[in-house]
Amino acid sequence: MNAYIRAIGVCRPKDVLTNADLEKIVDTNDEWITTRTGIKERRIVKDPNIMSSDLATAAAQEALEKAGLKPEDVDGIILGTIVADKVMPATACIVQKKLGCKNAWAYDITAACSFVPIALNNAALMIRSGQAKNILIIGTEIMSRIIDWKDRNTCVLFGDGAGAMLISETDDPDRGYINTYLKSDGTTDHILYVNQPNHENPYIQMDGQAVFKMAVKEMTTSVRKTLEMANLTVDDVDVLCPHQANLRIMEATADRLKIPREKVLMNLHKYGNTSSATIPIALYEAEQEGKLKPGQLVSMVAIGSGMVWGASLVRW
Ligand code: UT7
Repeated sequence: MNAYIRAIGVCRPKDVLTNADLEKIVDTNDEWITTRTGIKERRIVKDPNIMSSDLATAAAQEALEKAGLKPEDVDGIILGTIVADKVMPATACIVQKKLGCKNAWAYDITAACSFVPIALNNAALMIRSGQAKNILIIGTEIMSRIIDWKDRNTCVLFGDGAGAMLISETDDPDRGYINTYLKSDGTTDHILYVNQPNHENPYIQMDGQAVFKMAVKEMTTSVRKTLEMANLTVDDVDVLCPHQANLRIMEATADRLKIPREKVLMNLHKYGNTSSATIPIALYEAEQEGKLKPGQLVSMVAIGSGMVWGASLVRW
């Protein structure tokens, strides 16, 4: 048995914050944000009573509905967030309760933007080993709550949202999970971090240029490693889905890999960087737009705080 991505659901909060809106809050402008990042607008959760688990629950419900599964059919929930509802329990357990997945186990992974390759690797290997048949992997973030809205270096970059991918077993030899490459370097823990909520500065701190350089280098390496492990080449890649953090990072990565731009999924202009949720939301929209078809070779690649990076290959 192998694992495959069976259905994706998303939650894109309805309130939109445009670059023009940001011009009224900090000393910035649409031209700077567009040319340096590619972002035009992002979604924001305004209601303080809405939590990351609510976004995750909505996204997961859509994925289950699309697959025709009931909450009882879910064996496990793996959730990624840097804006957890509580310090404990894991937000995954709160989502389990809200969904009514009474037969599942649930746990969180702290991997920030690199959540998808890590979680997909976890889920796929559990399914291959026979430990589970249906696993939800959910990235969910309310980034607007950990942003310093006075810091123009960071507040223009992020957005809120969630994406849930239902990973199920399949015996179809022409589709499914292939492999994952993962790596981290804890000596770079100071270039992208958030302190505890009771710290005097509890907001995102980032050395943008250091993150930028590392992102291009390591995302390129990660894609190459997965292809090498599978005896494939960059020419075999039909779709590249990079973590959506900066248009220039995605373009530079694609260029280094010599993957043409038309194969690269990009929806950052609408949502900004939603951390663990960017890849599921990008895949969801690509599927709706007919850009993803069964049998295509899809490479997902991400990097985030840690720094932690990695890539996964699947046959769609
Ligand atoms: O998931 C991972 C999360 N993070 C990332 O992926 C971020 C990676 N890094 C980046 O995306 C880019 O480094 C940034 C978009 C953050 C910054 O772009 P940059 O081309 O590296 O700009 P910079 O930091 O070198 O700043 C250039 C100038 C500076 O002014 P001076 O010193 O040249 O006078 C900044 O103060 O742009 C200024 N600046 C801004 N100006 C207008 C910084 N932020 C803004 C802003 N609006 N929002």
